[in-house]
Amino acid sequence: MIALSLTVLLAVMTGLGGVLLWSSGAQAQQTDNASAGQAPAHQPSSRLSESDIARMLPSTDMGAGASMHGDMHARAFDGSQATPFDAAPIPQNPLAPGADAIGAKSCAVCHALETIQASHSLHVASFRAGSANTGPQASCEACHGPGSAHAKNPAAAGLIIAFTHDAKTPIETQTRTCLSCHVGGARQHWIGSAHQERGLSCTDCHNPMTRSSAEGVLAKDSINQVCATCHQDVRAQFNRRSHMPLPEGQISCVDCHNPHGSITQPLLKTDTVNETCTTCHAEKRGPFLFEHAPVGENCLNCHSAHGSNQENLLVLPVPMLCQQCHTNSQHPNDLLTRQNLRNGLVPDERVMERSCLNCHSNIHGSNNPNGAKFHQ
Ligand code: HEC
Ligand code: HEC
Ligand code: HEC
Ligand code: HEC
Ligand code: HEC
Ligand code: HEC
Ligand code: HEC
Ligand code: HEC
Ligand code: HEC
Ligand code: HEC
Repeated sequence: MIALSLTVLLAVMTGLGGVLLWSSGAQAQQTDNASAGQAPAHQPSSRLSESDIARMLPSTDMGAGASMHGDMHARAFDGSQATPFDAAPIPQNPLAPGADAIGAKSCAVCHALETIQASHSLHVASFRAGSANTGPQASCEACHGPGSAHAKNPAAAGLIIAFTHDAKTPIETQTRTCLSCHVGGARQHWIGSAHQERGLSCTDCHNPMTRSSAEGVLAKDSINQVCATCHQDVRAQFNRRSHMPLPEGQISCVDCHNPHGSITQPLLKTDTVNETCTTCHAEKRGPFLFEHAPVGENCLNCHSAHGSNQENLLVLPVPMLCQQCHTNSQHPNDLLTRQNLRNGLVPDERVMERSCLNCHSNIHGSNNPNGAKFHQ
């Protein structure tokens, strides 16, 4: 008896949920759920101004890709207050030139699973929150393009913009669709970048249909995992004896690289290697009273960024590291050998303990008046 009434209750509740999902109040309901406990998207809390929020958001301009969008919008903006997500434009699909927008509810008829899954995603939730209760909603077609031709003939590939490598939609159309709202900012150098030229799509790293990562709508749950899907060799170098704390989760590939492209090889965020390193190791930047020439030139003269089996990420052990460049001056003239080690025939302090660094301890440069030879 109790079991029966529980089942009935459950059925009623599920039914109610379904009704709510489909009713015209559904989206208001979802907005309330999404923002429970915080201010709705279009009413910034008192501490943050609208321009503060604008600065924090990624580069997004829903009016940017004019040529891509034409003037198709899923719904006419009806004079109420605009939000950043309002009136999402619909990109054109070159493979379905005559298609019209049919609205998110029509997609849900055949794609119930994807619709439920995507309801929690940043984009779909935001597009829904941004649109009024009237007219067809752009929350699917803002990315997938106008759907009327696809709905009539779902089996014909290409009639809907799809974002996978085996889809009929060309990669260029896929990336242009995302860029039609996300052009500029960090993606200013996407065209011509190593990733663009090697045919990557935005969706090799991002999956806006799910919520796999806390932020960045990534395809995996962390940035380092996303990169490691293809750059396993680099990820493996971070397991070497000496490495920066990337496996430990304290830094990530994008602390140094911009995967969307940059003006520096290889996709570095700053103009030079040294600028990248000194964003965190500022004390190595100088200027010093006595500069050590190779340090100012390039940190990679002595260090490897991704990991090394030598101490301190060095490319070679000391003294070999130093003797690559210092073999023909006065005191280090003699090339040091195994016999000069502590247990060799002619032990030499230059290869014992910290080797050259026993005496030349301030190797990145010195500000001490007596530090010309980096002793202090
Ligand atoms: C090689 C992987 C990769 C590719 C390809 C890629 N992204 Fe990203 N993207 C990332 C990562 C990683 C982040 C997170 C960066 C961070 O948190 O600093 C990110 C962040 C973003 C952000 C949010 C933060 C911001 O303002 O930069 C946007 C928007 C974005 N990507 C859009 C795109 C678009 C559009 C494309 C296709 C043209 C694209 N991405 C291609 C890896 C990629
Ligand atoms: C009449 C039912 C129907 C409607 C309405 C419909 N679809 Fe589809 N859709 C399908 C079917 C069936 C497939 C699978 C086709 C296949 O695998 O050959 C599909 C496939 C897709 C794909 C994958 C395409 C590919 O090439 O991988 C996307 C994306 C998609 N639909 C999005 C949408 C969107 C967005 C809408 C609303 C504008 C929509 N669909 C409306 C039935 C429909
Ligand atoms: C922010 C852009 C964006 C929005 C909005 C969006 N999608 Fe997608 N959708 C994508 C991307 C990207 C993929 C490819 C995901 C992947 O890498 O597998 C995709 C994949 C799909 C697929 C194919 C799934 C498969 O397994 O091949 C369907 C169907 C689909 N979306 C339907 C929808 C529906 C329905 C909505 C609205 C509720 C929607 N999408 C909203 C970007 C979007
Ligand atoms: C119709 C416009 C539009 C399209 C198309 C679009 N986005 Fe977005 N995207 C947005 C908006 C709006 C936001 C929320 C941030 C904002 O307001 O600037 C956003 C946020 C993001 C973020 C940042 C998430 C975060 O946590 O900060 C990423 C990454 C992103 N989009 C990737 C993509 C990718 C990949 C595609 C293509 C599959 C895509 N977007 C297509 C409008 C769009
Ligand atoms: C889908 C596979 C894929 C993913 C995921 C990927 N990359 Fe790449 N990456 C490539 C390919 C392919 C190249 C070109 C390699 C070459 O030319 O030898 C490349 C090249 C690079 C380069 C060298 C660029 C140059 O100018 O030589 C860097 C740096 C890089 N990727 C960083 C990243 C970072 C950081 C991520 C994660 C945010 C990432 N990649 C994710 C495929 C990928
Ligand atoms: C501390 C900064 C830093 C971090 C973190 C970092 N890199 Fe690099 N990366 C560099 C520098 C500097 C170079 C240039 C190396 C050179 O010129 O020899 C480079 C080169 C590369 C290259 C091209 C040449 C090569 O060595 O294969 C790829 C690909 C790459 N990085 C991918 C990644 C990936 C993937 C991650 C995350 C797992 C990552 N990097 C993390 C600084 C970094
Ligand atoms: C995002 C910040 C960041 C950037 C950029 C960065 N590092 Fe580091 N680095 C760290 C952190 C964090 C540690 C660990 C410090 C600690 O354990 O006290 C570290 C440690 C090191 C160490 C000591 C390693 C050891 O085994 O003790 C060296 C050497 C080093 N970094 C060189 C570089 C070089 C060269 C670059 C440029 C290619 C660079 N770093 C860029 C954050 C960074
Ligand atoms: C001439 C070779 C050389 C160059 C070039 C060089 N380093 Fe070093 N670095 C070393 C040596 C040797 C050590 C070990 C020092 C020790 O054990 O006292 C070291 C140690 C470090 C450490 C870890 C210990 C500490 O002092 O904090 C960091 C971080 C570091 N270097 C960063 C950099 C940065 C950043 C650059 C570029 C601006 C750079 N190095 C250029 C040789 C070099
Ligand atoms: C990539 C080449 C290179 C490497 C590696 C290198 N140095 Fe240097 N070093 C130089 C150059 C170039 C100068 C400047 C010489 C000059 O001004 O005459 C210099 C200057 C010096 C000086 C001051 C010389 C003087 O006459 O004032 C000392 C001491 C020194 N290095 C020690 C070391 C030690 C110890 C190491 C190893 C930890 C090392 N160097 C690694 C290239 C290098
Ligand atoms: C026991 C201490 C000590 C050790 C160990 C040591 N040096 Fe020196 N080094 C000195 C002193 C002291 C000077 C300064 C000599 C002068 O001013 O005439 C010097 C000078 C130099 C100079 C400047 C050029 C010259 O001949 O005056 C270079 C380069 C140099 N050392 C490199 C090295 C290298 C490379 C090693 C490791 C193989 C090393 N040193 C190990 C004490 C040491």
